[in-house]
Amino acid sequence: MAEEFDLVVIGGGPGGYAAALYAAGAGMSVAVVEKDKVGGTCLHRGCIPAKHYLETASVFRTVAGAKVFGVHTEQPELDLGVSRDRKQKVVDQLWKGLQGLMKKRKIKTFDGTGSLGAGHLVTVDDGTELHGTHVVLATGSVPRTIPGFEPDGEHILTSDHVLELDRLPASAAVIGGGAIGCEFASMLADLGCQVTLLEALPKLLPGCDADVVDVIVRSFRKRGMDVRTGVTVEGHEESNGQVTVKLGDGGSVTVDKVVVSVGRRPLTEGLGLEDTKVEVDDRGFISVDSHQRTAEEGVYAVGDVVATPQLAHVGFAEAIVAVRDMRGEDLEPVDYGKVPWCIYCHPEVAFAGMTEQAARDAGHDVVVSKHSFNSNSRAMIIGETEGLVKVIAAAGSNGTAGAILGVHMVGPWVTEQLGEGWLSVNWEATPDDMGQLIHPHPTLSETFGETVLTLTGRGLHG
Ligand code: NAI
Repeated sequence: MAEEFDLVVIGGGPGGYAAALYAAGAGMSVAVVEKDKVGGTCLHRGCIPAKHYLETASVFRTVAGAKVFGVHTEQPELDLGVSRDRKQKVVDQLWKGLQGLMKKRKIKTFDGTGSLGAGHLVTVDDGTELHGTHVVLATGSVPRTIPGFEPDGEHILTSDHVLELDRLPASAAVIGGGAIGCEFASMLADLGCQVTLLEALPKLLPGCDADVVDVIVRSFRKRGMDVRTGVTVEGHEESNGQVTVKLGDGGSVTVDKVVVSVGRRPLTEGLGLEDTKVEVDDRGFISVDSHQRTAEEGVYAVGDVVATPQLAHVGFAEAIVAVRDMRGEDLEPVDYGKVPWCIYCHPEVAFAGMTEQAARDAGHDVVVSKHSFNSNSRAMIIGETEGLVKVIAAAGSNGTAGAILGVHMVGPWVTEQLGEGWLSVNWEATPDDMGQLIHPHPTLSETFGETVLTLTGRGLHG
């Protein structure tokens, strides 16, 4: 006899655990089937550990640059093993907290791989059977690989392997200049590794505004990174403990380690589904509508396993939509064009809404204002003046700025500054609305304030 639940969730990452917590919070009985550890990629192999290492790089940079403040120290030396242990402590503490929260909400966790058959029956690979009035599929994603670069954990690494390194390689080639590639390249370079960043497209960070990407490329190059765009990789050879990456232009790069960060693919292997109406597209993503419903009634999918931005907070938002739908509550589908994006390389990148190019391509007449952090007093004080804030607004009939379409930031702590950016984009606020808000002085946030004020027609300092 299958154990009965209001909701059975397969996969305990951010999408799955958010669905479980939100449903349990509404009084539903919930089971989660997880084959590894609840918390998923984000907590164990993604966002959290990666940001920990980026913070290690930040501490290293700060100590190395301390003398400009008159603070004299020895030049820093890195013990990556110690940083790895600290990373594990942070991860384990969060993991414990999550398990405690799930227990408190009486969510039952089943260890194993769950598969979905007909009639909402979920079978765990140890034979346990669970039946859910509703089912959420949240099995996530795994790193994508490319032919000729099969990860071995020794020379060819995925992000999963980099997070477990206990020694910094002297040199590394990072293949793929997306979010993961730029974060890892930035972290490795700041810690003293000679990094070559290889991106197939003409520019890094596809999806980011061109002005933001320019700042990143300039900063990376200034810090000694070899950034190459528009290059293809054709395979590799190993000799004397090193790897030679062959490039499409006939050249090559020889390094200690290769990091492959060319995207992530959805994970549906072992999920069953054959006896259900759930549809999987030709790229392996589960098809859903705007309420996260699959083609099988009562079965939902959220997170990286659906073809939406692969961000933990998008998984959270989708989980809430799915649970509200199954409960017949009012809901707002996720507006994917307006979700916040944060990339934690140095300098950081944060944005919401359309890039200038995307806005023009969509047929908008736009007005644009940009302000650099190099005239912001707080940025000067902390010694991090690289970067800018760019706001794109729809042009009104008389040329004045209307609804804010996009806010793009690159610079110090912008991932923590984006709040009013995504609020203004999602509320379709105008620069007049935002320009009325007082920004405390001296703060980094004044650069956003100055940028919107300029769009009202009269800036203060710009
Ligand atoms: P991505 O899709 O963001 O970037 C992959 C990059 O690799 C692209 O620029 C692509 O053009 C390039 N590429 C593909 N094949 C290539 C090849 N053969 N040679 C050279 N370049 C090639 O994927 P990424 O960075 O692996 O991240 C995976 C997912 O995780 C993304 O959806 C990303 O948004 C998300 N993520 C978000 C983070 C954040 O927001 N802070 C951090 C880490 C990941």
